[in-house]
Amino acid sequence: MWRPPQRIRFSSSRGRVPSSSEASASRLFSPIAIRDCVLPQRTWVPAMVPWRATEDGFVNDAVVSWYERFARGRPGAIVVEATGIRDVPSGPLLRIGHDRYVEGLRRLTSAVRAASGGRTRLFIQLIDFLAIRRRPQPSKYFARFLRITESHRRALDAADWPEDEVRARLAALDEGALANVLTAREMESLRFGYRERVTDLDLPHIRDLPRALPDLFAEAATRAETAGFDGVELHYAHAYTMASFLSRSNTRDDGWGGARAARVRLPLEVFARVRARVGEKFVVGCRFLAEECIEDGGTVEDARFFAAAFASAGMDFLSASRGGKFDDAKQPDRADGAHRTVFRLQLRSQNLHNRAHLPGVLNQVIFFIDANRRECSRASHRMTVVSKSSIEHFVIEMARDMLPHSDST
Ligand SMILES: Cc1cc2nc3c(=O)[nH]c(=O)nc-3n(C[C@H](O)[C@H](O)[C@H](O)COP(=O)(O)O)c2cc1C
Repeated sequence: MWRPPQRIRFSSSRGRVPSSSEASASRLFSPIAIRDCVLPQRTWVPAMVPWRATEDGFVNDAVVSWYERFARGRPGAIVVEATGIRDVPSGPLLRIGHDRYVEGLRRLTSAVRAASGGRTRLFIQLIDFLAIRRRPQPSKYFARFLRITESHRRALDAADWPEDEVRARLAALDEGALANVLTAREMESLRFGYRERVTDLDLPHIRDLPRALPDLFAEAATRAETAGFDGVELHYAHAYTMASFLSRSNTRDDGWGGARAARVRLPLEVFARVRARVGEKFVVGCRFLAEECIEDGGTVEDARFFAAAFASAGMDFLSASRGGKFDDAKQPDRADGAHRTVFRLQLRSQNLHNRAHLPGVLNQVIFFIDANRRECSRASHRMTVVSKSSIEHFVIEMARDMLPHSDST
């Protein structure tokens, strides 16, 4: 068996295996209905991209067998990996941005249904993302990618120099000197690679996102329905387009950024368009961030506001995640951050349910909002069912679990 080359520094204990009567009495293994869609139990496999699709985004044997393996364990739900809503090259990431993807996706839903004996509900995560390029070699960055501006020339006192000379001079500067010549954005492109942002309003396709995205998501959702999925999870988390609209760093001044109410507008419009296009029974929820984990990023206060807005708009479930994906995201401190949080939740799960250790489902909390939206339940740890009006309270409680210095037990 392949083993990672690095030393394994942390090993988790397996915990006590519950008896079958304890397990079957637990809320985790009891059914829950989302609209007409019944999960026979509340175990939930979150979206994970294993990069197994074909280079042009189609389902292949490797994708089918990956999900069949999960389905044989008969979890209540599987969320198929983040799947691109546009028909653009994106390597071996699944795509749903054109009708030609439906056939492969239908093969996937049939395979999961067969492997789980019809006991696993299948959702698919819909994602939009902006352009991101790898960190360039500095020589290439200065020779090709950087656009030379008047500001560079002024800083170098090089008003009349041929462009090649300006480039060569920049390439010879050390990082400290460069910081005085390049803009913060140019430094970022040099250090991390070029990234588009939802705030790049000078780019027409970025300015146009609020007009384009609701239809793109809605068309993808109708394809998911045609392919036999039970519902969709709108990807509003991590560092992708929709999370960037929700982010505190979204300073767009065109009505789609700034205050929370403006930042949540597009996610709500996307949801409304999706909901309007799919059938009554089709489940629609989202994944969003309980905390952004970046400098000056969104906190649980933002998450509370968004959760309440999503619930009021009629989303069927909310899946809370944490943090981003970029290398400038704050890394949680091993002692104080996410790892301790996971540990705390594991302990909680064992204490409260006296049940099996549940690796893999513990640092996220799923909220289900029932069809008439009177009650919700938290699926992945305490499983409390309380009234929907307490959804803000839920998010606070959830966040308390996720935050490092919680005193609650
Ligand atoms: C390989 C891999 C791929 C992932 N892909 C996605 C994804 O497509 N969408 C998403 O929302 N989260 C994704 N995640 C995050 C997981 O859904 C999950 O939230 C995360 O792994 C934390 O749970 P864990 O501690 O049980 O691993 C991915 C995680 C891994 C390890």
